[in-house]
Amino acid sequence: MSEYSKELPIDMLYPLNEAAIISKTDLNGIITFVNDEFCHSSGFSEQELIGKTHQLLNSHVHPEEFFKEMWGTISKGEYWHGEICNRTKEGKLCWLNTSIFPILDKENRRVRGYIGIRFDITEKKRLELELQSQKIQYNSVIESTDGFWHLDNNGRFIDVSECYCRLSGYSEKELLNMLVSDLEANGHKGDLMYQLSTLNKVVSSKVFESMHQRKDGTLWFVEVLISYYPKYNHFYVFLRDISKRKLNESEQMALQQQLNQLQKLESIGRLTAGIAHDFNNILASILGYNELNKYAAEDLSDCELKTELLHNSQQVDIAGSRAADLIKKMLTYCRQDDTPKSCSTLELSDVLSKILLMLHEIIPTTITIEAKLLDNTYITLDETDLYQIVVNLFVNARDAMNKRKGIITLGVYVDGDYSTQFCSACQEQIVGKFVEIKIADTGDGINPEKLSRIFEPFFTTKGVGEGTGLGLSVVSGIIHKADGHVIVQSELGQGTSFKLLFP
Ligand SMILES: Nc1ncnc2c1ncn2[C@@H]1O[C@H](COP(=O)(O)OP(=O)(O)OP(=O)(O)O)[C@@H](O)[C@H]1O
Ligand SMILES: [Mg+2]
Repeated sequence: MSEYSKELPIDMLYPLNEAAIISKTDLNGIITFVNDEFCHSSGFSEQELIGKTHQLLNSHVHPEEFFKEMWGTISKGEYWHGEICNRTKEGKLCWLNTSIFPILDKENRRVRGYIGIRFDITEKKRLELELQSQKIQYNSVIESTDGFWHLDNNGRFIDVSECYCRLSGYSEKELLNMLVSDLEANGHKGDLMYQLSTLNKVVSSKVFESMHQRKDGTLWFVEVLISYYPKYNHFYVFLRDISKRKLNESEQMALQQQLNQLQKLESIGRLTAGIAHDFNNILASILGYNELNKYAAEDLSDCELKTELLHNSQQVDIAGSRAADLIKKMLTYCRQDDTPKSCSTLELSDVLSKILLMLHEIIPTTITIEAKLLDNTYITLDETDLYQIVVNLFVNARDAMNKRKGIITLGVYVDGDYSTQFCSACQEQIVGKFVEIKIADTGDGINPEKLSRIFEPFFTTKGVGEGTGLGLSVVSGIIHKADGHVIVQSELGQGTSFKLLFP
């Protein structure tokens, strides 16, 4: 547009002069004319401007190349259009939408000067910049969270952040065709829609925790912050991956449970030791006086009274020896049994064969015993301790048959991998290589509720006088003293197995 095709109608000059900022310069850019609007917007008077160049208004916002390009265009006689930022006399920045028209000589078409027509766009520019910086802030906020959703009131996505796509495994396109409930794990479906329904003008934001499912099916815990935007009835949702914290919490809970259990056992242990100790002294005096009674009765000449007294003393002896056994068990449980232990290396097939021979005395013939022993397998333990463990477990297995026929198997294994398993008694994760003695029965089995309690001292399901509930506590005590562990598996109606692991 280097030439006007039509003359401007004269009646249009007035409004143009009122609305636009107009100046005229010579070939070198020296100002020869400014309109009132120019003076008004720049803050300079006509006198201050005439004879100067536009350099007077330079804001230094644009690089030198910007003006070089502009001069390159207009000096060739071509029209230039662009946005220029000037500085007013007051020092304020002022953005102008600028068109520069070269004035061409009619005869030789040489450039004689220039006319600049400008419109003030400072306010538009300010809004643009503000919008741009808001956009940067918005992006940095949404990308600093693990996920951002913009939702309509039906739970449909209007926008999702890149980070959320990365973490969930879904593409933006996939998410824009989904509902939020598609991302919630089973048992949590509808969590978000419920929370959305509780928001209104008064309570316009909320934080809650939920469990989501990624595209690959894995689950993750998220903290969800929703904000309600009433103008459009839309929601902004910020998500934070809290899986790590949740896992730590459940680990901590398990540890706390272990600690509580240990503290409980410790206090039962102290109580048991105290009772056993005092009870032992009382028993010693009961048995001592019984002994004296026996001597006194023996001195009597034969008569009915003598027979009765001796019989009664014998009963006291029998009961006394049962009480002594119980005290021994209690002391073993609380590890105060001071019988010296001679831990030695036991060859298992040898010792277990001997124990099996003795077991026939306590196991009725309705129960079949099957043994699968391994030669040349060694553990370090006191032989009587091993005897006590095996007898305790066989007696429990026998009782679990409830006088029915059944099978008890005794096996020894060396190749087990226990690395993902936990000790049923101390709950610790099992680490290392072990020799396994397995005792399994086809008895009644143990229901899951009781299974978690069977190692507790004095826990028994047997009738009064039939069980003290110390058998498994003693078994666990001996095994752990030898740095071993125990794994119990049981199914109601199917039977129970005890795997005793020795280093
Ligand atoms: N093989 C098994 N099958 C089914 N239940 C069992 C078995 N072993 C143990 N139990 C259950 O565990 C409880 C605790 O066993 P534990 O050996 O500690 O005590 P008890 O046998 O009751 O008494 P104690 O052994 O002191 O005479 C038992 O009462 C029983 O309910
Ligand atoms: Mg028992």
